[in-house]
Amino acid sequence: MLTPRLAGIRACVFDAYGTLFDFTAAAARCRDVLGGKDAELSARWRVRQLQYTWLRSLMGRHEDFWIVTSEALTVTLAELGLADGTLHARLMECYRRLDAYPEVTGVLKALKEAGLKRAILSNGAPAMLADAVANAGLAPVLDHVLSVEDAGVFKPHPSVYALAEARMGARPAEICFLSSNGWDAHGAAVFGFRAVWVNRAGQTREMLPGTLAAEIRDLTELPALLDIAGA
Ligand code: LAC
Repeated sequence: MLTPRLAGIRACVFDAYGTLFDFTAAAARCRDVLGGKDAELSARWRVRQLQYTWLRSLMGRHEDFWIVTSEALTVTLAELGLADGTLHARLMECYRRLDAYPEVTGVLKALKEAGLKRAILSNGAPAMLADAVANAGLAPVLDHVLSVEDAGVFKPHPSVYALAEARMGARPAEICFLSSNGWDAHGAAVFGFRAVWVNRAGQTREMLPGTLAAEIRDLTELPALLDIAGA
């Protein structure tokens, strides 16, 4: 099968957690006290964190992603029989300083050299995104770090994707949106972005509205997809 190519892209907008930053790194760094439950904790924490964003959005009860992440962790630790204030604080601190996936810096640099604009569009609250970007040294390769806080609702609400359209100075069809979350990629596609699913975990394709422009395994495949020089 021929690899699809995306023509006419002027900007790339990235989801943060799971796409640029490895959220499993927080629990992995606390393995010493998690007694072999770090992978299960990461998975359950992530699912609950996302469910809380969708539920709060439906309820019209927005709180920022730091609070939602903390509340999801409290319940998940209790569910696993690990409720402990010190462990909670340590995990949240690690969540602020997640590792970027290994290819991220090089690919963002390649996009910059090719003259494409680059931004993050995330559920993350501004302060937690600023810490993650600083920790991973990504500030020099990003034009904007956009938070849903400016929309007051979580993804996949269209008003979130509209923030990126407004800031990137490009039409939706000229914006490539990349997310490792299938539902987020579909939300971006419904909005009109060229949505690429970064299917790091090899998950099954979702049945949701919106047509994905492409599916890649990690960001090393992005330069070829955009027909620019690689990292
Ligand atoms: C984000 C979550 C959805 O960064 O991964 O927006």
